[in-house]
Amino acid sequence: MKELPLALVEMRNVHKWYGKVHAVDGVSLTVKEGEIIGLLGDNGAGKSTLIKILAGYHRPDEGEIFIEGEKVRINSPSEANALGIETVYQEQALVDVMSVARNFYMGREPVKRAVFLDKEKMNECMIPLRTLGLSIKSPDLLVKSLSGGEKQGTAIGRAMYFKAKLVVLDEPTRALSVKGVQTVLDLVKGLKEVNIAVIYITHSLHYVYSVADRFVIMDKGKIVKDIRKDEAPLKELTEVLIG
Ligand SMILES: Nc1ncnc2c1ncn2[C@@H]1O[C@H](COP(=O)(O)OP(=O)(O)OP(=O)(O)O)[C@@H](O)[C@H]1O
Ligand SMILES: [Mg+2]
Repeated sequence: MKELPLALVEMRNVHKWYGKVHAVDGVSLTVKEGEIIGLLGDNGAGKSTLIKILAGYHRPDEGEIFIEGEKVRINSPSEANALGIETVYQEQALVDVMSVARNFYMGREPVKRAVFLDKEKMNECMIPLRTLGLSIKSPDLLVKSLSGGEKQGTAIGRAMYFKAKLVVLDEPTRALSVKGVQTVLDLVKGLKEVNIAVIYITHSLHYVYSVADRFVIMDKGKIVKDIRKDEAPLKELTEVLIG
């Protein structure tokens, strides 16, 4: 019998409660290498909570997580990073009052002589940012002076630079112009080309439809649809989303 390749990430029967709110209710989800998943669903469906569990911000109350077949416990965001999971958050992808370089190396600051930030090394962040086609002028620019697309691009550049296996984007395009959205969609395609998987959370099926391989729809903490694009006409998906 042919062996199936191991999933990159597998979440099995994951639950999360906030007090009485059952935010994630028995979710099982697999992500394959280089796969782009559009994660959709209404406000409060549990999308952000689910990915915060993967990102090490929340512990699941029940359930298991496997990375490349190995059972893991993800106790912190830096443990998630070490496992190859990078997350770009809905609330805050970057810290506005810090420079591009500081944001890029956040939590992974290179140091010299044990205590000093290695500024020269940190300026290397400009290389992946230019590769992504972002025209950010200096690593010392404060993030608050960047456009929404440039902020998302910086976070995505960071994921590529640190060789993530999975990048999670939580509503990356909500605050963006049409051009900014296109930039992010192009970046997502770029991640796929280098075999990095993406979970792309959005309310806008319209945007994610062109780039996704698969769609997962959540409602009230549960997955109500998990379907490959070649089996999911846009019209049918729209109907499921409208309910
Ligand atoms: N930190 C928290 N404390 C308490 N309840 C929370 C917390 N975060 C989320 N919830 C609740 O958990 C449920 C799921 O929320 P979650 O943020 O995961 O939804 P979502 O699908 O990301 O929604 P949206 O599309 O609005 O971002 C909601 O009922 C929400 O009110
Ligand atoms: Mg959310």
